[in-house]
Parts: sequence; C-alpha cells; structure tokens
Amino acid sequence: MSKKNLDWSSIGFNYHVTDYRYVSNYKDGKWDDGAITTDSKIVLSEDAGVLHYAQEVFEGLKAYETEDGHIVCFRPDLNADRMEQSAGRLEMPAFPADRFIKAVDEVVKANVDWVPPFGSGATLYIRPVMFATGNVIGVKPADEYQFRIFVTPVGPYFKGGAKPIVVKVSDFDRAAPNGTGNIKAGLNYAMSLHAIVTAHEEGFAENVYLDAQSRTYIEETGGANIIFVDADGNLVVPKSFTDSILPSITRRSIVQVAKDYLGLSVEERPVRLDEVQNFKEMGLCGTAAVISPVGKINDHGKEICFESGMDEMGPVLKKLYDTLTGIQMGEIEAPEGWVHVIK
Ligand code: PLP
Ligand code: COI
Repeated sequence: MSKKNLDWSSIGFNYHVTDYRYVSNYKDGKWDDGAITTDSKIVLSEDAGVLHYAQEVFEGLKAYETEDGHIVCFRPDLNADRMEQSAGRLEMPAFPADRFIKAVDEVVKANVDWVPPFGSGATLYIRPVMFATGNVIGVKPADEYQFRIFVTPVGPYFKGGAKPIVVKVSDFDRAAPNGTGNIKAGLNYAMSLHAIVTAHEEGFAENVYLDAQSRTYIEETGGANIIFVDADGNLVVPKSFTDSILPSITRRSIVQVAKDYLGLSVEERPVRLDEVQNFKEMGLCGTAAVISPVGKINDHGKEICFESGMDEMGPVLKKLYDTLTGIQMGEIEAPEGWVHVIK
C-alpha cells in the first residue's frame, strides 16, 4: 500500500473515482447491514423517487493526514446529526449516527492511499449521500432508499486558493422562508445552478444571497456561510430571521475558536447589506471553502471593497484560518470531541 501518484498540489476541487465506497440500502422499514464495495455505479428504476421529486440529501466532510501520520476527520457527529435533520425534512429515514461515523471510518480506511499527504494542501473530501430508490409516481415519499459514502481527494474550492475573490449580490433567491435552506438537500443546489453559471460568466466567484422575504439581509453564498470582521476586529456572523441559512459546521466551529482561542467577541445577528461597507474583512466558510477571503462584493455595479484588499487574507481571518486548520490537522489542541481519529 502506498499513496496514489497524484500531483496533490494541483488537483483542484474535482471528482476522482477512488477504489471503495460504502453502501447501505433501506427496504421494508430498515437499513441493511451495509458494506464496502468497489462499484461506483448505481442502477435505478426510471420511477425512483430521487429522479422525480428530488428526494435526496447529502453531507460533506474531510479527512486529513496529521504530521505524525494519523488520519483524522473533523466533527463527523455533527454531519451525522445534520443529515438526520435534512432527511427528516424530506420524509426520509434517518441513517443512525453511530453507523454514519463507522461508515466514514470504513470508507476512509479502505481508501487510505487516496488521503493526501500532510502539508500537501489537499485533503480527502468525504461525500455521504442518501436518495430515494423506491418507486413513486404520485407525489409522496418513496419507501426505499440508498445511503452511500464515497471519497475523493480535493484541493482548494476556489481557484487561487487563499487569494481573495469577488462575489456578486444575486437577484435570485437560494432559500424561501419556511423552505429548505437550513437543510443540505440537492434541491437547494439545483436552483442555484443557473445563478452560479451566470455569476461565473460575469466574472464573479460566488453569489451572495439575500433573505428572500425582504431582500435586505445577507444570508449566505451558494456553497458556504459568511463571516465578517468589524472595525474593532471582532466577528460578525449573519443570522437569518427565517431560518434559511444552512447551519455550517465550519461556521459554528469558527465562532467557538474566535471566542475561546482568540478572545474575540462574536455577534450573531441579522446583517443588512447596507452595513457591510463598515466591515474590514469578509470570508466564506465551509468544509469545501475552509475560510476563503472575499476582497469585494459587487452589488449591481456598485463595489463594496474590504480594507483587507485583493492581495491576501485579512489579519483576523488569517488568525482564524490558522487556528481552525491547525486544530483540524492536529497541530493545535482541539476542544473535546472535535477531532475523530480514524487511523
Ligand atoms: N452553506 C452551504 C449552502 C453549503 O453548501 C455549505 C457546505 O457544506 C456550507 C454552508 C458550509 O457548511 P459546513 O461548514 O458544514 O461544510
Ligand atoms: C461542502 O463544503 O462540503 C459543500 O458541500 C459545499 C459544496 C458547494 C461543495
């Protein structure tokens, strides 16, 4: 067994077919025992619920190699919990949290040669997904499902890595009040695809979505939550009146790191688009994005420029980034339960 021969520093955020995946099927009201398999293909009935009524939820987490050669992942219990919340909202069965974590362990161990080396800048992205395989034709939940976890090595989500990006204020909405913005369901991303293609064509890296009700408050981007640093160097984190922001595990961890490791004060509150000009730094945070700095927001041609500029990450976000990634990669002591040792 030896590491795969990839140029880890230039793999980007792309799918590589790895050797093994974990699959469990739900039928007659229960999940089967589940197993590791080599088959990356899925055969579905033309009438499978996922194809018609988008009954699908997913998760994203990463495995890291530490300096001393262990393989770890970050707070998988929170991914298991969130997937249960997501599944419940779409009338899908829960996959038990203890089995979720065990399946993550098994699939990462089976693909250990695909875990990028410590210090390479790449990580192993773990994608749990659950979808309706059972037949439906009228609008109703299916009665059969598949839970699957595959992995793929990834580099930075945004081209240029830690270079600041430019984002635009979108005219599209990501999530409705009382909708599904607070769960991780593929349907939320389907409706963002036209918006992201349009943003990319216009030269922007991501969309900032406003609350759909008043179009006044900042919610999040298509694939990450948002954090700001105010004029006093403290953290301001957008909160939704309508519970339509995805509860990012990275963001919740950053809030705790800011308070407990860096002694910052943290305000979690609704943030108006028209007050953003007062902030010094802006970042996008998530498993894929880690903390990606934003240099400018383009609001219908008007540029909101952050003091941190377009060359590098601002000083507060940099400290947060170094502390968070130090914890994730085992270089800084983690709060109890944050780092899960796989091997
Ligand atoms: N918001 C959206 C819409 C996302 O897709 C993601 C990615 O998972 C996040 C936020 C960040 O969440 P997490 O930090 O749990 O990965
Ligand atoms: C993640 O960060 O894990 C996500 O699922 C975001 C996605 C846009 C890649």
